[in-house]
Amino acid sequence: MDSPQDDFSPLKRFVVAKKKISDVFDQLLEYVKEGSVFVEETCRNDALENIASREQQEQIRAYAGKLQTIKDVLARRHMKVAFFGRTSNGKSTVVNAMLRDRVLPSGMGHTTNCFLSVEGTDSNNAYLKTEGSEEEKSIKTVNQLGHALHMDQSLDAGCLVRVFWPKTKCALLRDDLVLVDSPGTDVTTQLDSWIDKFCLDADVFVLVANSESTLMNTEKHFFHKVNEKLSKPNIFILNNRWDASANEPEYMEDVRKQHTDRCVNFLVEELKVVDREQAPNHIFFVSAKEVLNSRMQRAQGMPESGGALAEGFQERLKEFQSFERIFEECISQSAVKTKFEQHTIRAKQIIETVKAIMDAINIKAAEKRVASLEDREYQIDRLEFVTNQLQLLIEDIKKKIKAVTVEVESKVSSAMGEEICRLNVLIEEFRSDFHPLPDILKRYKSELLSHIEEGMGKNLAFRCSNAVNASVQSSQRDMIESLQPLLPPAVQNQIQMLVPCHKFDLSYDLNCATLCSDFQENIEFQFSMGWTALVNRFLGPTNANRALMLVDKNFPMTRSLSTTPSSGPSSVAVAQPQDTALSQEDLMMSVATNLASLASRTSMSMVIVGGVVWRTVGWRLIALSASMYGLLYLWEKLTWTTKAKECALKRQFVDYATEKLQLIVSFTSANCSHQVQQEMATTFARLCQQVDLTKRELEGEISRLTAKVQTLETVQSRSKILRHKATELERQLETFTDQYLNPHH
Ligand code: GTP
Ligand code: MG
Repeated sequence: MDSPQDDFSPLKRFVVAKKKISDVFDQLLEYVKEGSVFVEETCRNDALENIASREQQEQIRAYAGKLQTIKDVLARRHMKVAFFGRTSNGKSTVVNAMLRDRVLPSGMGHTTNCFLSVEGTDSNNAYLKTEGSEEEKSIKTVNQLGHALHMDQSLDAGCLVRVFWPKTKCALLRDDLVLVDSPGTDVTTQLDSWIDKFCLDADVFVLVANSESTLMNTEKHFFHKVNEKLSKPNIFILNNRWDASANEPEYMEDVRKQHTDRCVNFLVEELKVVDREQAPNHIFFVSAKEVLNSRMQRAQGMPESGGALAEGFQERLKEFQSFERIFEECISQSAVKTKFEQHTIRAKQIIETVKAIMDAINIKAAEKRVASLEDREYQIDRLEFVTNQLQLLIEDIKKKIKAVTVEVESKVSSAMGEEICRLNVLIEEFRSDFHPLPDILKRYKSELLSHIEEGMGKNLAFRCSNAVNASVQSSQRDMIESLQPLLPPAVQNQIQMLVPCHKFDLSYDLNCATLCSDFQENIEFQFSMGWTALVNRFLGPTNANRALMLVDKNFPMTRSLSTTPSSGPSSVAVAQPQDTALSQEDLMMSVATNLASLASRTSMSMVIVGGVVWRTVGWRLIALSASMYGLLYLWEKLTWTTKAKECALKRQFVDYATEKLQLIVSFTSANCSHQVQQEMATTFARLCQQVDLTKRELEGEISRLTAKVQTLETVQSRSKILRHKATELERQLETFTDQYLNPHH
């Protein structure tokens, strides 16, 4: 019995395999696109410094294009069987028998005048397409088709007409099978172009021979040519019209053996496409006409015309079915291999390469990450070092500044002391127009003041500046040297520029004008033997004042002291309490002490002499003394010239200025040391600022490295995930290979 095609058709194998491999390619394309995006992102990220190269990016992107093409090719993949043989051998009838319907025209004489392919369509209506046109010409009946083909004069033997037959009408067409019918091999001389055009992608060739005659040379010749172009083509030989042998049953076995031997010889010896043991599986004795008829009757629900069946029909039907089964197995096996194996290998290569790219990215990212971590560790250490070191240096430098300022203070103070002692020399050197007239006197004094200011400043600078400058400079150098290692190399070279290059100069700013503003000279003429002068001489200027006040019966102690400046500690100020405690007894003691030294004084000796002489010589001597006194007065009055007045003023000024300057010694030296401290602190602050800048740079670098490490970790994990996906796809391809491509299945 002829059973309709079952669901376990070997052709399904191809369909399933196609679906599986397409599925893998879908995933692979998605995967490669994902990988491409990843590589592109990695490439674009400048922070990652070429972890992925342009070539890798290009390569993976090119794969996406290639895979799309392969996918499209795969979608169009089908199994193809081509039928060849001499005219009227029944090629078209065999195709129809397999399709279980009269799809192609057949008949006596030369019927098929061009190549006809039959493939399934999802449409419910059959149609055809002629070569070079996309027009779908609908066909209702076989006659119409035959008519259409014969009417079309443009069609020659080398043309192809594609017949689209509804899949609903024919199970065989559902499974991606395309059947190609051809004009007789004896009608053409263009075998080569036929082969190039129709045979190169055929999975199986069926030679439809006529069992009523022997294998013709034209047929053999054609297959020799096919065999030259394709390696080991799958060839089946159908000895058709075997029903005719039923008429002469006595010769049947002999004829069959004869045909078989010749066919085996042709396949095994001549073409060498099959083993001798396998050869019988490629040679069948059938009657296509019978099979077609019986199948069509069955399809119409009619009995298989029991009585009308020729002798041995069942065996011939079985043999046809057996051909169909073996053919289906063969074509699906072969098609799966030829149509999918290359793509599987290509897919494996692509996966291998992508995997290698992912590995390379992973390794590079890991290396960079380790390097970045080390770098960060180093920067953190450095930051810590700089911070600690700076702390220590600040303490150290503070101490140094302190030491330098103390040193400067004492140096300036001692220099000033010495200068004050030499004040008289300085004042003596002063030359200017002097005259007691108030205006000129005023100018004289102000010039004198500026002379002192300038001279003393110069002298002080001479004594101190070099030493102080050297000390300041060496301290600054020390600071730079100790801070330099904390700075980055680029800044280290520029550090000299950061330090003020101006030469530090102490300013002594004595401000004599203000200091000595209340100086009041006394250049009135005073007779040295005058009452006031005498008292002054005996008691010294201070006591004399008191004594004179005592005489006035007016004794407010503080009046004499009111001239003492109240600002600043000084030797005079310290003397105040003693002064206030001074009593009349003390004063008398002082008078006595001063009187004791009277004998040594020439002018007084004259008085004593006068007293002695009075007794002995009398009034004449007194007169003489008086006149001498007068003369003395006159002489003194005459010698009280401008010059003398200037000297007196200078003398008075020396005393006055000495006292005043002594008051500001500590103030000035403190001021100087303050200047030094200021200078050094400024330099130090500027250096610290640089260190701070360095610290901030280090902190920035550390956070940049942290971010980089994170990015690298992401890259690493992504590349790892993508690698795993590649392995998974590889596994799927391996499964596919095992299941469909390896021969032991
Ligand atoms: P061209 O298309 O002209 O090359 O011929 P073809 O090889 O396609 O042969 P076709 O199928 O047209 O058949 C030619 C004639 O042979 C038709 O009349 C068929 O009915 C007849 N025929 C085909 N197969 C058999 C068969 O197995 N037995 C018998 N008795 N006749 C057959
Ligand atoms: Mg034909």
